[in-house]
Amino acid sequence: MQFNDMRGYIDVLREEGLLHDLDIQLNVARETSELQALMRHLHNENGPALMLNNLEGYNMPEIPLLFNPYGTRQRTAMILGEHDPLKAKAKHANILADQSTWIEPNVVTREDAPCKQNKIIEKDIDLAKQLPHAWFGKEGPSYITNAIVITKDPETGIPNTGCYRLTQLWNASHPHGEIYSEEEQRRCLSIFAFWNPPGNHIGLHWAKAQEMGKPLEIAIACVVDPVIQLAGATSLPFGLDEMNFAGGLKGEAIDVVPCETIDIEVPARSEFIIEGQFLPNRDITIGPHSNPIGYYDDEQLFPLMEVQCITHRDEPIWYSTMEMMPPFDHNYMAVLPIEGELLSDLQTKIPEVNDVVVTPNLSYFVQLSVDGAQKPHPEFGKYVLHAVWGASGRWGRTAKIVVVVGPDVNPYDLNEVEWAILTRVQPQSDTIINQSGQAFLMDPSAPKDSSHGIALQSEQMGIDATIKVYERFHSYPEYSNADQESVSAIAEKLKGSF
Ligand SMILES: Cc1cc2nc3c(=O)[nH]c(=O)nc-3n(C[C@H](O)[C@H](O)[C@H](O)COP(=O)(O)O)c2cc1C
Repeated sequence: MQFNDMRGYIDVLREEGLLHDLDIQLNVARETSELQALMRHLHNENGPALMLNNLEGYNMPEIPLLFNPYGTRQRTAMILGEHDPLKAKAKHANILADQSTWIEPNVVTREDAPCKQNKIIEKDIDLAKQLPHAWFGKEGPSYITNAIVITKDPETGIPNTGCYRLTQLWNASHPHGEIYSEEEQRRCLSIFAFWNPPGNHIGLHWAKAQEMGKPLEIAIACVVDPVIQLAGATSLPFGLDEMNFAGGLKGEAIDVVPCETIDIEVPARSEFIIEGQFLPNRDITIGPHSNPIGYYDDEQLFPLMEVQCITHRDEPIWYSTMEMMPPFDHNYMAVLPIEGELLSDLQTKIPEVNDVVVTPNLSYFVQLSVDGAQKPHPEFGKYVLHAVWGASGRWGRTAKIVVVVGPDVNPYDLNEVEWAILTRVQPQSDTIINQSGQAFLMDPSAPKDSSHGIALQSEQMGIDATIKVYERFHSYPEYSNADQESVSAIAEKLKGSF
């Protein structure tokens, strides 16, 4: 791989003209921040990654802010050394399916770990001065959105690495108008630790520790090699270590180093490491939070973490991102692992599955390599729809809209998917309404569970947009479109003429 930390990935983006420095002053202060508007603008324009060097209302102006690095499918594919999203996805899917390709981390000494260049010990912790705070939209707290979080199963000791959002409490507004205590603002964070029923894995660790009446040690590695973040955003079966999968994706071991105060190893080239623990029976209300389907969650209750040590690199960088109405920066970082997980699962059972595309709004499009009379059996499209809802991993079961198309439909092109639905589907005969699906828990259109106020069950719709030969017809009209080679040839011929 061309890089082994975020700095290296930034260099690659810069060399390819995909990242620019921005010295114009921008405001990031609570309630007056310009960052949400900047995110929308960049996504309207298919804009580049930026390094924001001149921020107002920012508590640590000496630390530059990386913005929108993963804002296109191409830049996200580059995390895996590819430019083509399908190649990146196939790489992710193949390595996921074959655990013999995974590589265990390599433990380095503190001297060889840049993340240890500076150390702040427990008595000096003051998060107002030691972690950057940048606000987005109408969000109450400033969130940490750049981190992987490592905990160990309190029973087995097996580590889990997940990509979860964290809440900073310093200078945060409270959803009920209260004020967070001086101690909470100075040294506490909270983590989105049970965000995705049936439970994200840190949530399972936390629940076990609660039952045992024990604290849970937590290491947060901020601004890491994006390969590690991608592995952390992949929902491996519980009990498998994402750090080994990250090594597989990279093709070499990830260098890790022991923490200073807890028994956890962290990526040695991270920009910041935050060490601490969840205390039993301490949680906190936070909000509002802008969620990835484009609405504000007014308030949420999450476990509280006490910070006991911070280490960081010299001249560190920070990365900040926001969820809002899609598309936004890390949509593609989030959907690539979902696509890889589904592709890996479906292809082991259904070799005719060619590609899975998850849109930023979380519609699921499955492209087959066969259609019409070549389908292995009648109603094959519906069989594939059920397979998506029954796939392993966290995501397939939450797919609210799934469309299955044939090989002549480009699943990255919404116009082509719409064309297939309009010309190959009879709404009653070719759709399935699943009334007992699992909700994407932030979906405001699904009924809310009374205890947490989040959605657990949702109706789902599957659309079989394959050609119904022989289900309904003996033949189908010939498809009329130019093939990609002819289009490229004519484009070449006309180059520079208008
Ligand atoms: C930038 C980013 C932020 C995310 N934030 C959360 C979060 O706060 N909570 C959560 O459960 N999943 C979040 N996800 C998705 C999880 O990282 C993903 O489902 C992962 O598989 C969780 O790991 P686990 O299966 O080990 O729990 C996020 C993904 C990305 C890319």
